[in-house]
Amino acid sequence: MVNYEQLAQAAIDAKAMSYSPYSNFKVGAALLTASGKIYTGCNIESAAYSPTNCAERTALFKAVSEGERDFVAIAIAGSSDYCYPCGVCRQMLKEFAKDDLTVIIVKNATDYKVHSFGELFPYGFGPDDLNDSNLR
Ligand code: THU
Repeated sequence: MVNYEQLAQAAIDAKAMSYSPYSNFKVGAALLTASGKIYTGCNIESAAYSPTNCAERTALFKAVSEGERDFVAIAIAGSSDYCYPCGVCRQMLKEFAKDDLTVIIVKNATDYKVHSFGELFPYGFGPDDLNDSNLR
């Protein structure tokens, strides 16, 4: 069983791989699957700026591209005390996350805030919304 401290540490470790020469803002993320596997990611920046990929999406894309779709928690460790996921990452997580996905915002391995995804992205638009339109 992976605990919050271990997932927090995995996010901190992933931060070390950050490629962020433009912002100098390093972020790491660690995504835990229902089967107990951890996929990590870091932010990867571009000289053209907008192609930049956040740590959360790097971890998510790595996991989904390996066949994973069932997630239970994500830990995020940034260069600020508590680094919350950007709107684009929240939208992308919405694609796979249930409201009860645990989101751990990491200051260090023993100091972190725990939220549910539903708290961070209430009333979001997601896959289900494309199926229940009664106006078509
Ligand atoms: N960034 C992340 O990777 N995740 C976040 O939650 C916030 C922002 C990255 C994007 C960019 O490389 C740098 O942090 C500054 O915005």
